[in-house]
Amino acid sequence: MVKGRILTGDRPTGALHLGHYVGSLANRVKLQDEYDTFIIIADVQGLTTNFEHPEKLRENVYQVAKDYLSVGMDPEKATMFIQSLVPQIAELTIFYSMLVTVNVLRHNPTIKTEAKQYGYQDMTYGFLGYPVSQAADITFCKANLVPVGEDQVPHIEFARKIVRRFNDLYKPVLVEPQAMVGEVGRLVGTDGDAKMSKSLGNCIYLSDSVKEVDHKVMMTVTDPARMRRSDLGHPEVCTVYAYQKAFNPGFVPELKPACETAAIGCVDCKKRLAAVLNELLDPMRERRARYEANPKLVDEILMSGTERARQEGAKTMAEVREAMCLDYDAG
Ligand code: TRP
Repeated sequence: MVKGRILTGDRPTGALHLGHYVGSLANRVKLQDEYDTFIIIADVQGLTTNFEHPEKLRENVYQVAKDYLSVGMDPEKATMFIQSLVPQIAELTIFYSMLVTVNVLRHNPTIKTEAKQYGYQDMTYGFLGYPVSQAADITFCKANLVPVGEDQVPHIEFARKIVRRFNDLYKPVLVEPQAMVGEVGRLVGTDGDAKMSKSLGNCIYLSDSVKEVDHKVMMTVTDPARMRRSDLGHPEVCTVYAYQKAFNPGFVPELKPACETAAIGCVDCKKRLAAVLNELLDPMRERRARYEANPKLVDEILMSGTERARQEGAKTMAEVREAMCLDYDAG
């Protein structure tokens, strides 16, 4: 049986954290056994908000690659590659840009949220249009499944529309991708206010040390009404409880009544959580240390992944050019 193909990835704008883990990374590690998996490190998309500091992106490309390898992405099963080194993605983006209107882009809910978050009064052409480029990321290798967090669903829907439009207008050469949203689509930050996000400074990183994890868990917001040890807790408003549900689900049936009756205090609850998180992160720390001891290996993995991505891109582009009457060189 032919394996289905996955494409997913991240912008290299910072170290990956537990939000990424529950939203997509854990899923990817499982899926790499069943699917031919492509993982894009989307540095061009990263430029949309970091064009003034490309050197930061460069550094983060390696950080993200190590995050992938440390969670257990296997280079034998998953093709990890760098977006800017695959010219076919850029070509496809330009062709797709004919098939989308500016108004549709302006109404994309994820674009709107991000524009607000970054305080953009006006948007660059590249930022407004990054969903077009993301459609090219997904389709250049004919991926049919895109495991992502819930905030990415509008972009996948958009990619499907472009594919349908292309296939109707020219020739049915592109594959319509489907989104696959992880079980815990979104993880609240340690401040309890919003989703875990680097720009909000409320993250627990996959590369955090035991000490950092212990400290961050101790600082995590709990039920604000529970000031004293004897006050009754309200788990549904507690961030630590949300984390217990995500990372320690076996403990939750016991924890909920214990919190509500003040049989357990926040400090004990946090200690249990920190222990579970460190247990999850320990094997990742070990793998990371191995790659950090051999940075050349990370580079080789990225270069051979990128080479495979280019080959897939060249195959797709030959069909796309033929469908669009642009295959002048085909003879
Ligand atoms: N937009 C995604 C994010 O911000 C990253 C990304 C770029 C992506 N290209 C992709 C995700 C293609 C899935 C498929 O996290």
